[in-house]
Amino acid sequence: MPTSPTPPSAARVVVLVSGTGSNLQALIDAATDPAYGVQVVAVGADRHGARALERAVRHGIPTFVCRVPDHRDRQAWDAALAEQIGAHTPDLVVSAGFMKILGEAVLSAHTVVNTHPALLPAFPGAHAVADALAYGVRVTGCTAHLVDSGVDTGPILEQVAVPVEDGDTPESLHERIKTVERSMLVDVVGRLARHGHTLTDRKVTIP
Ligand code: GAR
Repeated sequence: MPTSPTPPSAARVVVLVSGTGSNLQALIDAATDPAYGVQVVAVGADRHGARALERAVRHGIPTFVCRVPDHRDRQAWDAALAEQIGAHTPDLVVSAGFMKILGEAVLSAHTVVNTHPALLPAFPGAHAVADALAYGVRVTGCTAHLVDSGVDTGPILEQVAVPVEDGDTPESLHERIKTVERSMLVDVVGRLARHGHTLTDRKVTIP
């Protein structure tokens, strides 16, 4: 089903994905309301076959794939990715389950928001949920943050806590995190799109 028409004032958002795309779906659904102020103008992936790409196609949203192995090195991949993102002239880029570290070419050209399934700065990286569970924390959660050149080190926009339950597996805990993560991401992206932000040291203010 194609997305609803969006007023010209809506912020243009490119979403980067690698997997299932439930966070992408939440953004697409929210963007059907013109008052939300977001238009998802493209979805990019680092691999073919990501389920998230199918979601985009179903909604008539343009997609692109930019794979590391198709480029000379990471720098060339990053430059190609920056070009493909830039072709859609986004106001904001959202990394929603995109499992690659973005480089200078992308980050110097775009404001990028990432969502991460842990309470940063605890448990950065690709295995955050399993790492938190293995550590034995009783509370974990999710974080939306601006992306900088580090691994999950950028200024924090929002965090929501999720209690760990006895008997949790990485899968069960991740599913509970993702339920609150989707609402957090929709809320943060909408506020950034409608109001912009200022950054003082590591403190982000959304007016
Ligand atoms: C989300 O939980 C996101 O935080 C995580 O991948 C999941 C994607 O779910 N990202 C990372 O772990 C990045 N380090 P989705 O494909 O259903 O939106």
